[in-house]
Amino acid sequence: MIKLLAISGSLRQASANTALLRAAIGIAPRGAEITLYEGVGQLPQFNPDIEHAAPPIVEDLRNRLIACDGVIIASPEYAHGVPGAFKNALDWVVGSVDLAGKPVALLNASGRATHAQAALAEIIMTMGWLIVNEASLVIPVAGKELDAAAILADPALTGQLHEAVGALLHAIEIGPPV
Ligand SMILES: Cc1cc2nc3c(=O)[nH]c(=O)nc-3n(C[C@H](O)[C@H](O)[C@H](O)COP(=O)(O)O)c2cc1C
Repeated sequence: MIKLLAISGSLRQASANTALLRAAIGIAPRGAEITLYEGVGQLPQFNPDIEHAAPPIVEDLRNRLIACDGVIIASPEYAHGVPGAFKNALDWVVGSVDLAGKPVALLNASGRATHAQAALAEIIMTMGWLIVNEASLVIPVAGKELDAAAILADPALTGQLHEAVGALLHAIEIGPPV
């Protein structure tokens, strides 16, 4: 079983990004399991002073990331940047060297969010994770008030989700580039 961890950059109850990730769970092919991480909003503020004696919720995030074979990220853009709560989550795992090379699908739920997407790509590469370009699609669901069920009912959107998840699974199966 290939395990993927999905992380949304939005804390909003009716988030389009979270809905997209919930829909991804619904199209996961046989042999793959996608789990949504829901702790971003509960993480404490990152502080390097306590990085190596971090609270259990931070250890839980690190352990989930270590245990998964790949990560699917979908995040909104706030003022041309990455939402603070999500950047905070990433800051907690910047120093986790055992996550180097972790394959990532960087979904974009809004074609307009180009600044945050570029910033996220830079952050993720700086962390040493591996962005799988073929899996990092723009899937335009933001602003349409679609929940996961509505996304799953749309053949064009589910087609793109299949393509993204399939590309991530393929990258995991063939392993890192040599
Ligand atoms: C404070 C704030 C700032 C935003 N800034 C931008 C922005 O700079 N560029 C953009 O394309 N959208 C911006 N948006 C719109 C959100 O990215 C958009 O509503 C997105 O769908 C929210 O994602 P969610 O539905 O997953 O919460 C902003 C929204 C908020 C609340």
